[in-house]
Amino acid sequence: MNQIQHVAIIMDGNGRWGLKHKKSRNLGHKAGLITVEKILKETIKNKIKFLTLFAFSTENWKRPQKEITYLFSLLEEFLLKKIEDLNKNQIKLRIIGNKKKIGPKLKKILQNSEKITKNNRRLQINLALNYGSKDELLNTFTLIKKKKIKITLENIKKNLYTHNIPDPDILIRTGNTKRLSNFMLWQLAYSELYFEKKLWPDFTVKDYNRIIKSFKKIKRNFGNI
Ligand code: IPE
Ligand code: IPE
Ligand code: MG
Repeated sequence: MNQIQHVAIIMDGNGRWGLKHKKSRNLGHKAGLITVEKILKETIKNKIKFLTLFAFSTENWKRPQKEITYLFSLLEEFLLKKIEDLNKNQIKLRIIGNKKKIGPKLKKILQNSEKITKNNRRLQINLALNYGSKDELLNTFTLIKKKKIKITLENIKKNLYTHNIPDPDILIRTGNTKRLSNFMLWQLAYSELYFEKKLWPDFTVKDYNRIIKSFKKIKRNFGNI
């Protein structure tokens, strides 16, 4: 049976969920947060050590300002309210992505949340915020050049935003589209991909466990036979 160290999720479909329920896209984002909490608990139950959540992409800046502002305020509120809980539950929070474009207030909250939880070992949540794989690779190669070190697989790995994080075993994308949208292109090279029809707020613990169960039985070859 395959062990699971790392699950990565593209939480897609919030906006459509809000509209489907005759409400706003933003309400869909709020509903999505409830799914986040459920999946978080289930990840701990399953003794999985790393959970990466795609929260905002480098391309999401194209959205209307009102939605962007709402998304960031939701995150701010969530962290302020929940960071102590996360800490008590031995959860470590790490932000992956380009912090340059994040406003000073949220930046401070993020830094503080990372600092408070940095020694926790039960589960590490990697929050992909202003994350784009192409931006990450560009940053990686710039770092390698600056450090005057050789371009090797090992050095690339060490200079990604995800250094010290094993590659995802499982990628889940909800929301009924089969694309990666610039997410972890390097790290997903050998991950098992699960594209789910359900919109993120409708995704359940049962769906999650079905995926986990199916993953455990897959024969992973990594090029071997
Ligand atoms: C994903 O849901 C969450 C973010 C991108 C922040 P969407 O907002 O993309 O929802 P849909 O795909 O438009 O329904
Ligand atoms: C991917 O969803 C980004 C996040 C879930 C944060 P999008 O909704 O932005 O992806 P596209 O634009 O439909 O490919
Ligand atoms: Mg979407």
